[in-house]
Amino acid sequence: MMRKTVPDFEAMKQAGEKISMLTAYDYPSAQIVEEAGVDMILVGDSLGMVVLGYDSTVPVTMEEMIHHTKAVRRGAAQTFVVADMPFMSYATVELAIHNAGRLIKEGGADAVKVEGGIDIAPLVQTLTRAGIPVVGHIGLTPQTASQLGGFKVQGKDIESANQLLKDGQALEEAGAFSLVLEAIPRQVAEKITKGLRIPTIGIGAGVDCDGQVLVYHDLLGLFKRFKPKFVKQYAELRSVSIHSIQEYNKEVKSGYFPSEQHTFGLSDELIQKLYG
Ligand code: KIV
Ligand code: NA
Repeated sequence: MMRKTVPDFEAMKQAGEKISMLTAYDYPSAQIVEEAGVDMILVGDSLGMVVLGYDSTVPVTMEEMIHHTKAVRRGAAQTFVVADMPFMSYATVELAIHNAGRLIKEGGADAVKVEGGIDIAPLVQTLTRAGIPVVGHIGLTPQTASQLGGFKVQGKDIESANQLLKDGQALEEAGAFSLVLEAIPRQVAEKITKGLRIPTIGIGAGVDCDGQVLVYHDLLGLFKRFKPKFVKQYAELRSVSIHSIQEYNKEVKSGYFPSEQHTFGLSDELIQKLYG
């Protein structure tokens, strides 16, 4: 399968074909996501929580994002990769250009994602004009969750729903080629989606978005700290992993592992020569 390009995603929206996106953070997860046929990989700054054990996405650095994006690119050469710009890496336009360029050139990403609405539209325009494809992200924006009053559904009153519509419009006009909608009522997401030319990718935003995204560790049941309402867990790999490793541990202690099957030996003739 050929790696998709920016115009492919807009064409998918036009054709009414849903876009699937999933996060990946390293070589094996990227290989798995690519082999499963997902359209787009997100190297989310959620890696701060699900693979690095931070309490939020705020501490994630550019170096960490580049490190993980490179591994994902090696694992998924045929898949369109979006890398999150971490908190404070786009606090000014100059920083944004420099850091987005690094995610593309050093990390190997096809595009970057930034959190924010109309306020960051000029920044999105500068990045786009510099040749960097940009995905927007509005609604619940984890990097600034404390300003939003915590991890809460956004756009639940007229005023904030209207603001989200304006934000989406401004980001499209600024040149964003896609827009993540996180934790907003489905009716608001539907209205945003219908009003835009660019595809919306929802997480906790209902089925009317042009696509969906989930976090790898949530989908596979590898992360136990918390599980938002919008997560659908398709497997329970954490317990599968623990059971497998418990077995290994037991077999090492009992001497059952390694058996002949996993052991190298010498021929009888050689044993005779060496040890008489
Ligand atoms: O970091 C991430 O995984 C994200 C998705 C949840 C959209 O931003
Ligand atoms: Na993110």
